Amino acid sequence: MAKVLVVYYSQTGNTEKMAKAIESAIRKEGVEVVSKRVEDTSAEEFLNYEGIIIGSPCYYGTMAYPIKKLIDESVKFHGRIVGKVGGAFCSAGNIGGGAETVILSILEALLIHGMIVQGEPRGAHYGPVAIGTPDEKALKGCEKLGKSVANLVKKLFP
Ligand SMILES: Cc1cc2nc3c(=O)[nH]c(=O)nc-3n(C[C@H](O)[C@H](O)[C@H](O)COP(=O)(O)O)c2cc1C
Repeated sequence: MAKVLVVYYSQTGNTEKMAKAIESAIRKEGVEVVSKRVEDTSAEEFLNYEGIIIGSPCYYGTMAYPIKKLIDESVKFHGRIVGKVGGAFCSAGNIGGGAETVILSILEALLIHGMIVQGEPRGAHYGPVAIGTPDEKALKGCEKLGKSVANLVKKLFP
């Protein structure tokens, strides 16, 4: 059965709340899912999942170092992650604080791995963003991402 990994870094809990909302949306779709703090996972684990969603707070307009480290370590498995489904999300302090560039830089890495990323035609096009504590709108965006990744994983890995 297809499985999805939601991996995130969170110091003050905002990104973690988003991860949990994404996790429960995926579970609701009947897809097996695990969410893990980046400290509790490794790039090798990417091999065990058909879907990989990565979340980071926005730090100086880019992803937090532990997420970048995980991605850079995934080079060991380059070529073995091709065709898996990807997604990204971000928590930032301010509107215009760089959240979209964080999401796009995570998605760039996933695309370089050869992963499949579905865009969102309505709302948060690249992935959900929260400003501070995720509000209802941000949590809805997380649900949308969870749902779309779960459905794509079901289609591609029946
Ligand atoms: C080192 C550092 C750099 C940050 N840089 C930015 C930034 O460039 N833009 C922004 O909007 N917020 C910035 N923030 C705020 C965080 O992105 C924001 O508080 C986020 O919600 C934290 O997520 P967390 O609760 O999951 O740790 C920064 C915070 C820290 C600690």
